[in-house]
Amino acid sequence: MFVCLGNICRSPLAHAVFEDMAAREGLDVFTESCGMGAWHVGEPADARMRRTAKDRGVTINHYARRFEPSDLDEYDLIIPMDRSNMKDLKRYARPEHMDKIHLMREWDPEGGTEVPDPWYGGPEGFETVYDIVERSCRALVDDLKKGKV
Ligand code: 4NP
Repeated sequence: MFVCLGNICRSPLAHAVFEDMAAREGLDVFTESCGMGAWHVGEPADARMRRTAKDRGVTINHYARRFEPSDLDEYDLIIPMDRSNMKDLKRYARPEHMDKIHLMREWDPEGGTEVPDPWYGGPEGFETVYDIVERSCRALVDDLKKGKV
């Protein structure tokens, strides 16, 4: 379960990129994404994010949905994009959920902490988000294949 604020930029991208990579690697996983806020529920992903993904060969086909506390029970890995998303998630988490929650960039081989919110910035922000998410999802898929997560 990939998590961001609006569920229209970063987490639907991570969802689509990861789902494609996992399918190519033959991993049997169920992937979802959600947002901590409800402003965009039911909307398709941001057109700028969809365009950036499409130019790199990935189709985002998701309608925004809000995080539900039961997601913490139902998913094995909960992956917030930034520290604010993580803090919000942890307000709902019981002790047994804590080990499931990991920032996306824990898998970024180039380091870094947060996937920056591209919503208010220019087009280059969406390219940066794509690069970070692609590297991080690749490493996550590799870890899953090795049984490391
Ligand atoms: P996301 O980006 O969390 O990556 O989906 C955002 C989208 C919308 C808003 C904030 C962040 N917003 O404030 O509406």
